[in-house]
Amino acid sequence: MENILEVKNVTKIFGSGVDAAMKMLKAGKDKNHIFKKLGTTVGADNVSFDVKKGEIFVLIGLSGSGKSTIIRCLNMLYRPNAGQIFFNGKDACKFDKNELRGFRRNNISMVFQHFGLISNRNVIDNVSFGLEVKGIDKIERESKSREMVSLVGLDGWEDHTISSLSGGMRQRVGIARALANDPDILLMDEPFSALDPIVRRDMQFELLKIQKMVQKTIVFITHDINEAFKLGDRVAIMKDGKIIQTGTPEDILENPIDSYVEDFVKDIDKTKILCAKHVMVVPTAFIKSGDGPHVAMKGMKSNGVSSVYVVGENMQLIGLLTLESAIKVKNGELSMSEAIIKEIPITDVEVTLQDLMPVAAEAKYPIAVTNSKNQLIGIVTKASVLSSLAG
Ligand SMILES: Nc1ncnc2c1ncn2[C@@H]1O[C@H](COP(=O)(O)OP(=O)(O)O)[C@@H](O)[C@H]1O
Ligand SMILES: [Mg+2]
Repeated sequence: MENILEVKNVTKIFGSGVDAAMKMLKAGKDKNHIFKKLGTTVGADNVSFDVKKGEIFVLIGLSGSGKSTIIRCLNMLYRPNAGQIFFNGKDACKFDKNELRGFRRNNISMVFQHFGLISNRNVIDNVSFGLEVKGIDKIERESKSREMVSLVGLDGWEDHTISSLSGGMRQRVGIARALANDPDILLMDEPFSALDPIVRRDMQFELLKIQKMVQKTIVFITHDINEAFKLGDRVAIMKDGKIIQTGTPEDILENPIDSYVEDFVKDIDKTKILCAKHVMVVPTAFIKSGDGPHVAMKGMKSNGVSSVYVVGENMQLIGLLTLESAIKVKNGELSMSEAIIKEIPITDVEVTLQDLMPVAAEAKYPIAVTNSKNQLIGIVTKASVLSSLAG
């Protein structure tokens, strides 16, 4: 996938003593050392990462680790002291006033935690604010804004004032306003941190849904590892102004680069990240629809299982045959088609363990994993779930 942003060796220092601090950074000193010696704060230290078009890229770290500093450098709210930030190949640090204004109006929009909404204005007027600034006429901005309000699920609230809305609804307005501009990149600095956990979960879901519809690139900041791993296609972990590891949630969980990352991700609830595709095993015991009870029983015996899946010519899942029924077919008490159980639990590869576990707990048989063509591509057993959680 093509990179929409390339952040290269960005350093941002606050306060006086920038040159001295830069020198000390080059000499390998860290943020804490420099603060002690100079009283100068290093916000970001030699930060590099790429953001791919259409992905959700998450920056995570403890408070003060430099997340806001970096996201503010992305739209030049802060000017880096060193490094480059390429937007579609052009260095944003070199934009002149006009280019920068165009960049902020057309390409990159920020959603803040505290919304920045105008509380005595109504929803539509808040959403259309950026369009108004752009000089777009009233009819067009109203229709665009209504579309965005609907997209974030606020139909019917167009004329309500911001002060009459709940926190979650205000946040939806903030997102609608950012989207109304139709930017290429949405910057979100801890947008959900002030929301209570249930509203927050709704908003995470809503954001994923919206992102699927509008296909925007999102740079998202959080200090919540569960939120980071739920939303992020890729996640960068920050500490003391530096990025210490970047990768997919799975990469990071599998190969934490050091003990800090290991501890940081330890209390993650793995059931929220691992999906059927991560825990499924190859289905070894299956028979073709034309096979008889003897083939079925032989398959069960050699695999040490008490049921087999029945599949069609192209591995399409037809059902399941248990040992008990296979014996009945063999004794002529049932026909093969009567014996095949059609009501079996199935799932798709992307379903998380969190959602699969209740099914697995109830199910008498393993869960069959099928693709969009209904082909059997794996099975999830209670044992495979447990072993992946233990690892
Ligand atoms: N405008 C500023 N002036 C001085 N120091 C700042 C400023 N913004 C951030 N900092 C400092 O830079 C470091 C990183 O802060 P920040 O990027 O806000 O962290 P985070 O968003 O991860 O909590 C902190 O030590 C913070 O005190
Ligand atoms: Mg911050």
